[in-house]
Amino acid sequence: MRLILDPEICQGHARCFSDYPHLFDGDDIGHGQLKVIGEVPTELIDDARRAAQGCPERAISLSE
Ligand code: F3S
Repeated sequence: MRLILDPEICQGHARCFSDYPHLFDGDDIGHGQLKVIGEVPTELIDDARRAAQGCPERAISLSE
């Protein structure tokens, strides 16, 4: 399972890196960036799903 964050869709709502700082960082303009590149560790998959559901812009998704 991999995390995807589409920078074209992100509007800087900051929920991802505020609520899940172990998965995301904020960049200079307050947009989200992935911290976990590649496979999401098993123990973080639930948080990754919650982060995807919590993004108001649906900028975050998970792929197999
Ligand atoms: Fe962007 Fe969504 Fe995070 S809009 S800053 S990816 S909560």
